[in-house]
Amino acid sequence: MAETYYVTTPIYYVNDVPHIGHAYTTLACDVIARYKRAKGYNVAFLTGTDEHGQKVETAAKANGETPLELADRVVKRFQALWEKLNISNTDFIRTTQERHKHTVQEQFKKLEAKGDIYLGEYEDWYCTPCETFWTETQLMDGNCPDCGRAPTKLKEESYFFRMSQYQEQLLKHIEENPDFIQPKSRRNEILSFVREGLRDLSISRTSFSWGIPAPGNEKHVIYVWFDALTNYISALGYPEDKDALFETFWPAVHVIGKDILRFHAVYWPTFLLAAGLPLPKTVFAHGWWTVEGQKMSKSLRNVVEPNMLIDKYGVDAIRYFLLREVPFGLDGDFSHSSLISRINSDLANDIGNLVSRSTAMLGKYFSGQLPQPGAIEEADQKMIDLFEKQFQTIDKHLNDMSFNKALMAIWELISAGNKYIDETAPWALAKDPDQRERLGTVMYTLLESIRLIALQVAPFMPETGERIMTILGCDSSNLNFEGQDQWGGLVAGTTIEKAAPLFPRIENE
Ligand code: MSP
Repeated sequence: MAETYYVTTPIYYVNDVPHIGHAYTTLACDVIARYKRAKGYNVAFLTGTDEHGQKVETAAKANGETPLELADRVVKRFQALWEKLNISNTDFIRTTQERHKHTVQEQFKKLEAKGDIYLGEYEDWYCTPCETFWTETQLMDGNCPDCGRAPTKLKEESYFFRMSQYQEQLLKHIEENPDFIQPKSRRNEILSFVREGLRDLSISRTSFSWGIPAPGNEKHVIYVWFDALTNYISALGYPEDKDALFETFWPAVHVIGKDILRFHAVYWPTFLLAAGLPLPKTVFAHGWWTVEGQKMSKSLRNVVEPNMLIDKYGVDAIRYFLLREVPFGLDGDFSHSSLISRINSDLANDIGNLVSRSTAMLGKYFSGQLPQPGAIEEADQKMIDLFEKQFQTIDKHLNDMSFNKALMAIWELISAGNKYIDETAPWALAKDPDQRERLGTVMYTLLESIRLIALQVAPFMPETGERIMTILGCDSSNLNFEGQDQWGGLVAGTTIEKAAPLFPRIENE
């Protein structure tokens, strides 16, 4: 049986349309899902939309539509973008679906029956845009410490979750599992938060109605985060688990932005502990994108719209740029000039040239027929060894979600290929009939290198991976590592035509 891997994106609020920040989280998950699949894992990859809560209710009202009408409209924008970005999710969950509401209510009932959910009264400050409660002391100058906006005082009957009960267990888990919260700096942040003490958490509201009703007390709707976080198991059919998805895939790797770490690394694990379920394997919090040095916001009118970028530069260029430019986990800045320079140097120049030079030479010297390699010389062996070494390095980086390092390691292979051309100088060998066999070995080494590079770039740039495989006369629908990741896969005699440029240069506007 294949090993399983379950990766999730956050579910996106439908009161906003998708932008580059959302695309970033989803893209990272896609690369890891594609990579694991290529390595033979049975992968479940979940994304979806978060459709309940006051924010959505308010946004719908302002638009003169019902919350569900709003959700139905915006969910299409997300789904269309994921298709355009070549996202390979295996499921898409909406929190308004029956399967999800069912799981949330079952989970609520289970914890209530255990005594971990009880009815009480709540009085605190609430920041509606952040859907977060704050105590008096947590406020900064009377405002929400996250977004700086003014909170409102809420007093209402509320269900509470006995989060305080799970503080020690959670702390122990974080301490004993260094990979549970990543990167390390974020882990430390959560450790100190938990050590300060966990209060019981208010998990229902009576002040609005757009949500999942609390079972047996319809006056209350379930708090949007209790609702939303449950998506990760409702999509697996928990608790009935008719299709054995939960049994097969849980626990998950959650990829999220740093702003929602506390919900994933504190609230969610305590809900799971209370339900007696295994905790996620990893919660990885990535950084935030600014745009040309500024925070992205509707009011600044600088929201980067991914559809437009894809139309202009191509989907693979955008996929490459977002994961190459900034170390995953750190904040980064989006600028058009850095995007263009990455496209021109890394894509058009490095990988594009390697493929077009090599296939052009094969056309010129061997009429496009891949020759049988002869004796291996030192330069060739160096290439073979480098591939073996880099494949391990790339694997390690991807397992650490160091996407930019993995790409740098792939680009070392590409540079080595370009350097190999310069050093072996096929044009000189071609002039000497005695060097015919040597020229054949050089051409084979080059094209075989390109095949292995295609396998490695495919999770990041699926179209490019397929295009290169097609150019090489290989089966472009098979990008699996198994059976293909060893040196020597290309078959002599294969016809390989001169490739059109993979990435046209962008002239600076
Ligand atoms: N609905 C909640 C998540 C519930 S998960 C059980 C939510 N939704 S969101 O639409 O506001 O944000 C979703 C993700 O987009 C978050 O991981 C957030 O970090 C990410 N980003 C939003 N803006 C971003 C940037 N400017 N840069 C990078 N990622 C950003 O939170």
